[in-house]
Amino acid sequence: MRKIKVMTVFGTRPEGIKMGPVVKALEQDERFLSVVVSTGQHAAMLQQVLAVFQIEPDYNLKIMRPGQTLTEITIETMTRLEPIIQKERPDIVLVHGDTSSAYASALAAFYNRIAIGHVEAGLRTWDKYSPYPEEMNRQMIDDLADLYFAPTETSAKNLKMGNHCHGIIVTGNTAIDALRYTINHSYHHQVLDEIIPGKKIILLTMHRRENWDKPMAETFKAIKTIVDHRDDIDVIYPVHLNPKVQAVANKILGNDNHFHLISPLDVVDFHNIMSKALLVMSDSGGVQEEAPALHKPVLVLRTTTERPEGVTAGTLKLIGTEFNNVAKELSSLLENPEEYDKMSKAQNPYGDGYASERILDAIAEWAETQKEL
Ligand code: UD1
Ligand code: UDP
Repeated sequence: MRKIKVMTVFGTRPEGIKMGPVVKALEQDERFLSVVVSTGQHAAMLQQVLAVFQIEPDYNLKIMRPGQTLTEITIETMTRLEPIIQKERPDIVLVHGDTSSAYASALAAFYNRIAIGHVEAGLRTWDKYSPYPEEMNRQMIDDLADLYFAPTETSAKNLKMGNHCHGIIVTGNTAIDALRYTINHSYHHQVLDEIIPGKKIILLTMHRRENWDKPMAETFKAIKTIVDHRDDIDVIYPVHLNPKVQAVANKILGNDNHFHLISPLDVVDFHNIMSKALLVMSDSGGVQEEAPALHKPVLVLRTTTERPEGVTAGTLKLIGTEFNNVAKELSSLLENPEEYDKMSKAQNPYGDGYASERILDAIAEWAETQKEL
């Protein structure tokens, strides 16, 4: 029987982490022929992920430029991907989530009449500019897709609200699959030695476009105000390579001994340090899914989230980026053991770690229905 040719296209760090388990599953499954395309939207930060999963892309579009614009990402991805799609003629192209290169890849596949599978489909805030541009990227990908791999029942419901009624499969989130590759209970890292034994760790990340400049500055100042008054807490902050983020982080936190500003960690380091942290503060999407699985409370540095399941479960709390609120919420979580207990014991709503296998089975079932295969 002819194998089903699946082209996975991804190129940012979070896409790599969540598509890594899908690619590994494809490689091990005789029903499929896997072609991997890196957009290269993130050069260094994707390389860290590829090394962990031992994935060597068949193609690299190498689109990254310093300070790239959304238009540049979109045009470069489409222009460079199209000849590869035309050469390989895959049965289906898989894209992930909501980056601009994922949207551009889906559009290039559609223009070439290739079926599209959307991994992590159906996440919504229903707010056009929050997160920006991701909310519209994912809505537009869902308009183009043929198969929707929805991580939760809530995301499946969102798809139906948007009139996408066919081809939805609830799979769980592949972020939880990735934890099966990374978590190691005897893990150690040098940054942990730098922290005085007995101190607790806050793990911080922040990068979203809508948080650039003032929101980021206010948030950092608020965390600094709380942490500087205590001798039992340090903050580990692997700073995103975006120069906009680097500038604010270094200016406000650079000379403070409570803050360990380090380079982006590879995903094994990041997941294991998260599993040793007291709590997480982040505006990241993926972190909102992983932390609950590791029983870590997350103070989400945003006012909206497309991951409401974690808020309902009680493991995520939306605290925004306003100085007074960030300071108040952090202080309250640190001072209130009952609140901490409730958040850390909440049930992870994002899956059981076997989403990739469900995705592959759904593709195989779909392929059976395609006459030309
Ligand atoms: C992108 C995605 C965002 C995702 C985030 C994950 C879009 C519009 N944005 O945002 O949805 O949440 O990735 O991290 O698709 N850079 C490097 N090396 C790297 C990576 C980035 O130097 O390995 C620098 C470059 O100067 C680059 C800049 O960061 O131009 C911004 O990267 P870009 O992918 O445009 O935006 P992100 O903020 O990373
Ligand atoms: N991550 C990592 N190293 C770091 C910071 C984050 O590997 O130094 C991982 C994290 O575990 C999660 C993903 O990167 O899986 C989140 O990426 P990011 O916050 O850049 O993007 P988002 O999820 O918001 O799109």
